[in-house]
Amino acid sequence: MHNNIDEVVAKVADKFRRTVPEAAKSERVPYGSGAGKWIESPWKLGNSWWTAGFWPGMMWLLNALSPEDVFHAEAVRTTELMTREMRVFRHLNHDVGFMYMLSCGAKYKLEGDEQARWDALHAAALLMNRFNPTENQHNGFIRAWDGREQLGYAIIDCMMNIPLLYWATRETGDPRFARVARIHADTAAREFVREDGSCCHIVEFDPVSGEKVREHGGQGVAVGSSWSRGQAWALYGFTLLAMNTGEARDLATAEKIACYFARNIREDGLTNCDFRQPADVYRLDNIAGSCAACGFLELAKLTGKAEYREAAEKLLDGLIDHCCDFGGEYCGILTHCTAAYHDDNVGTHTNITYGDYFFVEALCKLKGVDPMLWR
Ligand code: GLY
Repeated sequence: MHNNIDEVVAKVADKFRRTVPEAAKSERVPYGSGAGKWIESPWKLGNSWWTAGFWPGMMWLLNALSPEDVFHAEAVRTTELMTREMRVFRHLNHDVGFMYMLSCGAKYKLEGDEQARWDALHAAALLMNRFNPTENQHNGFIRAWDGREQLGYAIIDCMMNIPLLYWATRETGDPRFARVARIHADTAAREFVREDGSCCHIVEFDPVSGEKVREHGGQGVAVGSSWSRGQAWALYGFTLLAMNTGEARDLATAEKIACYFARNIREDGLTNCDFRQPADVYRLDNIAGSCAACGFLELAKLTGKAEYREAAEKLLDGLIDHCCDFGGEYCGILTHCTAAYHDDNVGTHTNITYGDYFFVEALCKLKGVDPMLWR
């Protein structure tokens, strides 16, 4: 790649060294940042919002990239906030993978903390309990959300949650976690991934039979479109699946999705919010680009194929050249992150913390210091 990674790492560490102390004054982890300030999630759910694990996760990664008290102390402090959140968590959603692998799972992995291990295992049990068994057992799926009108909803994002289940099986020897993950992944490969390697965001199933009822457009343009963050979740999620199972069919699915993603990276290395958005619409989502870069880097390692490494480098050069704020506007780094194609109230072309998380994870991979919190 044409950017010098050591220089980028130094700028990232310098920026967060300056801005983390302000975040450390709050009991709520940042969802993103605006001009000169950290911003909480707009959903008023505080640390129960699905993105809350990315902040402690990023602190663990920053501490791997540039070991410093400011990062370590904030990693420990906010992992404890997530432990506390587990006691009052009033949701049964599937995003406990995102939330607890990157916080408690990380603390156990990096520091051997026993309570953190139990909290991550409880999160895994909660996720396994989301499994919707069906009349035809091969149609089973992990239910995404809690609403009565969403009984049969599953979403592609869950591919990033199920690594928690594989971890729990390895950790406890109990095969049920991995079995549930296997059935969900097979359903996702069959029902979400299209012939050309693109994926839909939401599939609604009949919760009794498991038959597909319909697709929903979700956070992309519409039914039949190709929301880029969903593609990124699928790319990295199926790559992690292949790492967890060692199965050729999982690797084949990951590669099919990766080739589709690579064909859709813009000339400037940035990522449109939906790969099928109208040609005259300028709407980027750099969270998708930074997450996909991580997936491509892992896939390159798994397959030995240079084209995946090249795709990751194109994405990262695009981000560094055009969309990194190393100066003073945002507290975070990546600009042009977009939460959803149609909802301007939740963040459009702004800094959102999980974009930064994946950017920092990609830097850790390039520097050879990634603790690989997803496994
Ligand atoms: N998992 C929800 C999102 O990617 O916005």
